[in-house]
Amino acid sequence: MDDAKEEIRARLLVEDVVSQYVELKRAGRTLKGRSPWGVDKTPSFMVSPEKGIWHDFSANKGGDIFAFVMEVEGISFPEALEKLAAQAGVELNKYKGGDKKVAQQKTRAKEALELATKFYQFCLTKNPTVIKYAMQKRAMTKGTVLDFRIGYAPNTGKALTDFLVKRGFTKAEMETAGLLNRFGGDMFRGRMMVPFIDTQGVIGYTARVIGEGEPKYLNTSDTLLFNKSRFVFGLSQAKEAIRKNGFVVIVEGNMDVISSHQAGVREAVATSGTAMTELHLKALSRLTPDVRLAYDGDEAGVKATERAIMMAGDLGINLSVINDYQGAKDPDELIQKKGREAWQEAVKKCQPAVDFLLDKFEENLDLSSGVGKREYSDKAMKLLKYVRDAVERKHYEQLVARRLDCSVEDLRAKKIDDGPKRRLKKVALEQKSDILKGVRDNLQAIVLYGGVTSVKGVELPEDEARKAELELVFETRYKGWKSDVLEQEAQQLLVRYKQEMNKQEVAMLTEELARAEERGEEEKSAEILRKIMALKKAG
Ligand code: UTP
Ligand code: MN
Repeated sequence: MDDAKEEIRARLLVEDVVSQYVELKRAGRTLKGRSPWGVDKTPSFMVSPEKGIWHDFSANKGGDIFAFVMEVEGISFPEALEKLAAQAGVELNKYKGGDKKVAQQKTRAKEALELATKFYQFCLTKNPTVIKYAMQKRAMTKGTVLDFRIGYAPNTGKALTDFLVKRGFTKAEMETAGLLNRFGGDMFRGRMMVPFIDTQGVIGYTARVIGEGEPKYLNTSDTLLFNKSRFVFGLSQAKEAIRKNGFVVIVEGNMDVISSHQAGVREAVATSGTAMTELHLKALSRLTPDVRLAYDGDEAGVKATERAIMMAGDLGINLSVINDYQGAKDPDELIQKKGREAWQEAVKKCQPAVDFLLDKFEENLDLSSGVGKREYSDKAMKLLKYVRDAVERKHYEQLVARRLDCSVEDLRAKKIDDGPKRRLKKVALEQKSDILKGVRDNLQAIVLYGGVTSVKGVELPEDEARKAELELVFETRYKGWKSDVLEQEAQQLLVRYKQEMNKQEVAMLTEELARAEERGEEEKSAEILRKIMALKKAG
């Protein structure tokens, strides 16, 4: 695959790829623009056409075209490769060798799905009952029906299969695409078809009965193209709005996504039901840290919110909850009953997820009784473990203490059973803080390209792309600086770097300490505490 990567790199200009997302202006040998992650006050996004790389000085990200597309689209490397290969006109299959057969199968499956989608769309136009269902009962406009490529699967049993056979597709190919049932007939019959669309096109469907019936939705099961725990419904249509407005709304139902988009909230996406996985959240966290959950207020919705909080901390996500449905059961119903403004308002009025959950716990317990207080504090303290920021956690501990009329010390004295132990992610210390990354970039850039010799003990990258990026950092920040000033800057950065590393280590150890204390491991706690004290003294 390295050859394919090089071929694509040779054919595409970094400025062309980037300017599909960021408006660039020339500034000497580099190009400048606004950060697509929306964190800069002045243009802080640089592209070096010569080096084929980019660097975002406000978000502290950078790399080549592949890294850019991965970051900005929130997709994996293979997906970015595929996307850029298409733009470059590079036939990836040629490079795949061993995977060639699989690649061919995928291509055929994609072709079958594209054709099936057109077939379903056509069938919809011929069926007044289903048109009525889609446009009156579900209140979709013509534009929405076209945008989301809504269709209808006839209920004859082999309408699609016959059509695809005529178009030269084999049963095996249809099978790979997930279009066949166990008996080799049409998988979807008599249903409104809602395609799953990703960067590559249609990869599957969710199919709704017209009116009442079981199951309500029939979905494509996992195939070569479709992976349920990865796919985010509506993301391809929502991406632009998410990036532009800096937040994403996760709803439960696919129809809620469609209604929401039609109601002007185009940041909406759905995972299948409430089963959100870390993969889903990770993909979304690449686009924005502001994630708003619009789950039902029932028990399943609360549980799903709790699960999301446990994942959010590690991914640096700010989680909030949209819960003002004015009695409607989901966003779709809210929009139909109270209008689009009601939904737009609800999205604006979101509440931090921790506050939401603490309120929910309180609703379900009697806080005037001892037992109620115990249960409430159990649940609350368990939840607060996932709040990573010490100041934020303190805020909530104080809030809980006030509600229970006890002290924060009383709460901390409780032994909380965490259930299965939370995974301690071995995220490299360095990746954790943006400040640290910024300081490190500058320091490495000076040492590598500023001829600074007095600074020792800085790890330097070997990788060529990373070096090119640092060269850009150097040219943008330090070009023309006198060598003694550079030496001084390097010394200061080194101090700063050590301080930041120190802080990170203290933060990690503090977490470790909390866990050791929880388990009552006194010796270990004391040892960690000693380490923390030593670090604090050194910093
Ligand atoms: P809901 O039953 O809340 O669906 O299930 P909904 O979106 O409100 O459906 P409408 O408005 O009645 O058409 C939420 C999600 O759970 C999954 C689907 O992904 C659905 O969007 N689901 C539900 C299924 O996969 N199969 C089912 O039979 C039901
Ligand atoms: Mn619904």
